[in-house]
Amino acid sequence: MLNIIFIGAPGVGKGTQSALIEKDYSIVHIATGDMLRENIANATELGKTAKTYMDKGELVPDSLVINMLKERITKDDCKNGFMLDGFPRTIEQAKELSNILDSLNYKISSIVYIYADEEIIIERLLKRGRADDNEETIKNRLKVFESQSKPVLDYYEGKLKIIKVKSGRGEPEEVYAKIKAELDTL
Ligand code: AP5
Repeated sequence: MLNIIFIGAPGVGKGTQSALIEKDYSIVHIATGDMLRENIANATELGKTAKTYMDKGELVPDSLVINMLKERITKDDCKNGFMLDGFPRTIEQAKELSNILDSLNYKISSIVYIYADEEIIIERLLKRGRADDNEETIKNRLKVFESQSKPVLDYYEGKLKIIKVKSGRGEPEEVYAKIKAELDTL
């Protein structure tokens, strides 16, 4: 069973690579950003609160995201493997995730860390044009990644296997080939 955590700055291709993995390995893709955007679209209380943070490129408070993730990962479809895309994003979330996984008797097979040069990230996101893909918000998201989410990678160093892949101006399939080669050794 393959249980993966994706870590990477905004726009490095976590969602893109998750979609490719999902096709080949048939494991569930859990993207907290997508779940929050769905809540915004449905005008839930969580969505209304989340929007005020997401519009600025700030993280949504830990307690809200942890509860949302806990509810999702407890569902039966995760029993055959899952990918976490965008979670954990803080040390607090990483610690809570350990407790949740222990209680469900799940083990993480590997972290996949994707990185890219900042200019490539900005270029890609401006081209995509999601609600939070404007230059000011992108720059804040990158800052927030460095200060709050990159430490999560350090937290896992030595605890879990980490696959590190650089994404450049090539095609997503090139990045995927490198990830797949590593996943197939697990
Ligand atoms: P989230 O939705 O997770 O956004 P993000 O981390 O900023 O990541 P993106 O979706 O922008 O990028 P990605 O790495 O998935 O890249 P993608 O594959 O899309 O989070 C949004 C917000 O939600 C956060 O700011 C926060 O407020 C909140 N949030 C979410 N989770 C949270 C949590 N756990 N705690 C607190 N708050 C949370 O690719 C980007 C573009 O590049 C696409 O157009 C794609 O086609 C293109 N592309 C990808 N790879 C390549 C390639 N190799 N070559 C060329 N183009 C490529």
